[in-house]
Amino acid sequence: MPVPPTTLRRPARLVVLVSGAGTNLQALLDATSDPAYGAEVVAVGADRDGIEGLARAERAGVPTFVHRVKDHADREEWDRVLTEACLSHDPDLVVLAGFMKLVGPHFLGALEGRCVNTHPALSPAFPGMHGPADALAYGVKVTGATLFVVDAGVDTGPIVAQTTVPVLPEDDVEALHERIKVAERRMLVDSVGRMAREGFTISDRKVRFGSE
Ligand code: GAR
Repeated sequence: MPVPPTTLRRPARLVVLVSGAGTNLQALLDATSDPAYGAEVVAVGADRDGIEGLARAERAGVPTFVHRVKDHADREEWDRVLTEACLSHDPDLVVLAGFMKLVGPHFLGALEGRCVNTHPALSPAFPGMHGPADALAYGVKVTGATLFVVDAGVDTGPIVAQTTVPVLPEDDVEALHERIKVAERRMLVDSVGRMAREGFTISDRKVRFGSE
C-alpha cells in the first residue's frame, strides 16, 4: 500500500517554536528571504518572554506569540492553547527549533506528521534536555544533531536527517554545543527546504523526501 506523500504549499508556511537564542530560527529566517527556498516563516511562538529568539522574529517583522505553562491551569490547557495558536497561522509545517518543552496530545492530534524538532545529539543516543553534556560525559568521539518528526516520545520520532561533528579532547559542553549548532543549522535549513519543495513520506519510520 503506497504511503500518501505529505505535500506543502508553495511557499510552505512555517510556524517556528523557540525557547532561547534562536540561532536555528535565524538560519531559517535568512534562508526564507530567498523565494527559491520555497518556504516562509509565518509566525514564531515561545514558551517564555524576553528571549533573543522572539527579538529575532520581531526584527524580521514576523508575528509572535508566547504561551507560558505557568499562565495556564495545567499542562493540558497549555497544550491546547499552544496548539490553537499554531493552527491559527495555518502552518504546513511546525518547526521546533530549540523549543524546550514536550508538546502534548492536543498538539500531536492536530499536527503529528507535520512537526519536526531538532535535537543536539545523534538519536537514539542521548535524548532529552542535555544532549551535548550527556555525549561529553559518556566520552563519545563523534556526536551531532538529529532532525526528526515529532511523536509522543522524547526525541524518538522518525529521523529526517542527521549531521555529525567530532568531540575534541579539550571540549567543554559549551564548545561542543557550539560546534554542533553550526552543523545543526545547515542540516535544518537544508532539510526543511527539501521538505517544503519536494514534500515527504513517512513509512515504517523511514522519512523520504519527494513522493516516491
Ligand atoms: C539547539 O542546539 C537545539 O538542538 C537545542 O537547543 C539549541 C537551540 O539553539 N534543542 C534542544 O536541546 C531541545 N531538546 P538556538 O536557540 O540557538 O536555535
